[in-house]
Amino acid sequence: MAAQASQRLEGKIAVITGGSNGIGLATARRFSAEGAKILIADLQSEPGRRAAESINDSGGTAHFVELEAANEEANYAMAAAAVEHFGTIDVVVTAAGVSGGDYNSGDIEGGLKRMAKAAEAAAVNPAASLTELDIDDWRRVLDVNLTGTLLAVKATAAVMLEQEKQGSIITIASIAARDPLWGAPSYPVSKAGVWMLTKNAARTLAPLGIRVNSIGPGFVDTNMTAAFDQVDEIYDSVIAQTPMGRKGKPEEIASVALFLASDDASYVTGELIHPDGGWFTG
Ligand SMILES: NC(=O)c1ccc[n+]([C@@H]2O[C@H](COP(=O)([O-])OP(=O)(O)OC[C@H]3O[C@@H](n4cnc5c(N)ncnc54)[C@H](O)[C@@H]3O)[C@@H](O)[C@H]2O)c1
Repeated sequence: MAAQASQRLEGKIAVITGGSNGIGLATARRFSAEGAKILIADLQSEPGRRAAESINDSGGTAHFVELEAANEEANYAMAAAAVEHFGTIDVVVTAAGVSGGDYNSGDIEGGLKRMAKAAEAAAVNPAASLTELDIDDWRRVLDVNLTGTLLAVKATAAVMLEQEKQGSIITIASIAARDPLWGAPSYPVSKAGVWMLTKNAARTLAPLGIRVNSIGPGFVDTNMTAAFDQVDEIYDSVIAQTPMGRKGKPEEIASVALFLASDDASYVTGELIHPDGGWFTG
C-alpha cells in the first residue's frame, strides 16, 4: 500500500517499541514518511538496525536501540536515547509483544511446534490450556506484553512531562483484549490489561496534555500469525470470523496509529480502536 506522505508528523519524534518487525516496523516507516524522526527499540537488533538504515537511506531519520521490553532500566535507557539523539519524545507506540512465552518473531517452525504441542495436549485434556498452563510461560507473556507496555509508558511519559510536551502514546492491545479467543489465557489477559492500563494512563495524563490510546487489531499478516496460515483449520476459522474475509496488513494498523498520533485525534484519549475487518460486528 503506497503511503500518502502528508507530513502529518513533521518535526515530531516517535519512539516505537517492537519496531524491528510487523506492525511496529510498518508504523516506523509510515511515521517517517509523514515527517517524524524515529527511535526503533526492539529485542531483535539485526532487523532493527536494517529498518533504521533503510529509513535513513530513503531520506528519513531513524536510530535503533536494543530493548528488552520487560526490563525497567532498558526502558529508561530507550527514553534517554530518544532525548540524546533527537532532544525529545512526542509520540510513542508500544508494539513489542509476544503470543507465547517462547515466542521469537520470525521463528515460524517454533510457532508450528508450539501449536502442535497445544493440540496434542488438548486431545488428551480439553482444558489443558488452563489446567496444565506453564506458569513461567504465563509470566513471560504478562511481563513482555503488560509490564513491558507499562514500563515503556512510564519511561516515555516522564520525559514528556518533564518537557511539558503535548504528547500522544499509543499502546497495541488486540481483539483479544475483549475476546478470549482460544487456548491459553495469558495473551488475552495481557491485552485486557493493556486496555485498562491505557484507560488509567489516559485519565492520569489527560489534564497534563498527553493523550493515551490503544489499537486492538484483528488478525494481521505479520510473523505473529504466520504459523496460523499453515494450519488450514485455524486459518479458515480466522477468516470465517472476519467479515472482511481476509487478514489485515501491518500498514492498515500503522495508518490507525498515524491518526492517533496526529492532531486529527486531538480530542481522542482513553480509546481502544479495532482495525479488525469487522471482528466485533457480532
Ligand atoms: N499480528 C496480529 O495479528 C496482531 C493482532 C493483534 C495484536 N497484535 C500485537 O501487535 C504487536 C506487534 O506484533 P506483530 O504482529 O507485529 O508481531 P511481530 O512478531 O512481527 O513483532 C513483534 C515485535 O516485538 C519484538 N519483541 C518481542 N518481545 C520483545 C521484548 N521482550 N522486548 C522487545 N521487543 C520484543 C519482536 O522482536 C518483534 O520485532 C504485538 O503486541 C502483538 O501482540 C498483533
